[in-house]
Amino acid sequence: MIPRALPRSVLVIGSGGREHALVQALLRPAAPGGAAVRAICAPGNAGIAEEVPCFPVAVDDLDGIVALAQREKIEFVVVGPEVPLALGLSDRLLAAGIPVYGPKADGARLEASKIFTKELLLKYNIPTAPAGIFTAVAPALEYLRSRPIPIVIKADGLAAGKGVVVATTRAEAEAAVRDMLEGGRFGASGRQILIEDCLFGEETSILVVVSGRDFVILPTSQDHKRVGDGDTGPNTGGMGTYSPAEVVTPALLERIEREIVRPSVDAIAAEGMDYRGTLFVGIMLTPAGPSVIEFNARFGDPETQVVLPRIASPSLVELLWRAAGGELAGTRLTVTADHAICVVIAAQGYPDNYRKGDPITLPKPLPAGVSILHAGTARDASGQVVTNGGRVLGVTAIGPTLRAAADQAYATCAAVGCATKYFRRDIGARQLNRTA
Ligand code: AMP
Ligand code: GLY
Repeated sequence: MIPRALPRSVLVIGSGGREHALVQALLRPAAPGGAAVRAICAPGNAGIAEEVPCFPVAVDDLDGIVALAQREKIEFVVVGPEVPLALGLSDRLLAAGIPVYGPKADGARLEASKIFTKELLLKYNIPTAPAGIFTAVAPALEYLRSRPIPIVIKADGLAAGKGVVVATTRAEAEAAVRDMLEGGRFGASGRQILIEDCLFGEETSILVVVSGRDFVILPTSQDHKRVGDGDTGPNTGGMGTYSPAEVVTPALLERIEREIVRPSVDAIAAEGMDYRGTLFVGIMLTPAGPSVIEFNARFGDPETQVVLPRIASPSLVELLWRAAGGELAGTRLTVTADHAICVVIAAQGYPDNYRKGDPITLPKPLPAGVSILHAGTARDASGQVVTNGGRVLGVTAIGPTLRAAADQAYATCAAVGCATKYFRRDIGARQLNRTA
């Protein structure tokens, strides 16, 4: 049983902008003048290392993580990415007596297998697109012929956000089916596929802190998944976010809670999973109502960067600790009226081929309300901060309006020095145009 006193030390697992945001939020004391927690991170990045000690342990090195937590006398582990969750990191930590926020491997299947999730959603009548499940090409192609175009082909397993093809022609759909089932694209992840009807509407990311049958819905947000302005080009991990997503009105959020979140949490518990972590519900707001696109078993990246700064109370460490300890019932969030935006600065060429090792210079000092969260950054041998991944930085700004926040973020993006920097110019445009 987890003691009620808050943990004094936290280990954050991961190396992205999400983890930088988690570290910053976990360091904020519960009350003004209250005790701060000691935080460490593995493996972290150049920006996280400026704030807390980072340890070079890979996210899939479960033995290494357990040993690190024991050596550093860590009282609480918060897991960022899906890979260690799917590998069973939380099971391992719990077996070693270390409390953890993030589901065990059984719950992580909700992200690691799209088929597992689709079957759960259908079994419990939770709104989602109709789909067929296939392991062989011939029946898959026959099913395709019976469905309207566009149509969505999904590899079952983890594919770093790339295992989904929204096909706009039959030829493209057939090629995607063959690619995954015969061509070995996505390896084992693509040995089983889903062929799913296309949903139309706006997407929203609903992050839910879950503890068994109890849950707390975090502030709404909207991501921009395509790499190019106007939602063009290939899908990415996410090029920018803003919160709140005003398209999710209070009435719509109530409907999402009633028709999707409550039944999903109940279904997960009814299937025997004791889920303690974030359930990220990707939702399409269709004309017929909200419909589930996917579950993730973790915080979103870059959703986390705009959602966490808007939570006034409880402190993040208290919220996640209560969830991990099964003490979430009755927890109520206070959320600020601010608007937050995160513009991702990527390396030119992301999500396909991009260079690493380009020097980065950051503007200083930053205006009030602006912070630059690191994602794919490292220090080279000379100590210079350089690019080290596809998504490099997230420029986050908070303001009284989305317009004010966006202006601040974009002014800072312009001031970041990096030869290969690329960012979308239209983060938040949909909401800005609606309110204009
Ligand atoms: P997923 O990895 O399941 O989140 O899919 C990646 C992206 O593909 C989603 O964020 C959507 O933009 C798109 N997508 C997935 N499923 C559908 C669907 N049934 N209809 C339309 N778009 C979809
Ligand atoms: N931004 C989408 C995700 O974290 O999956």
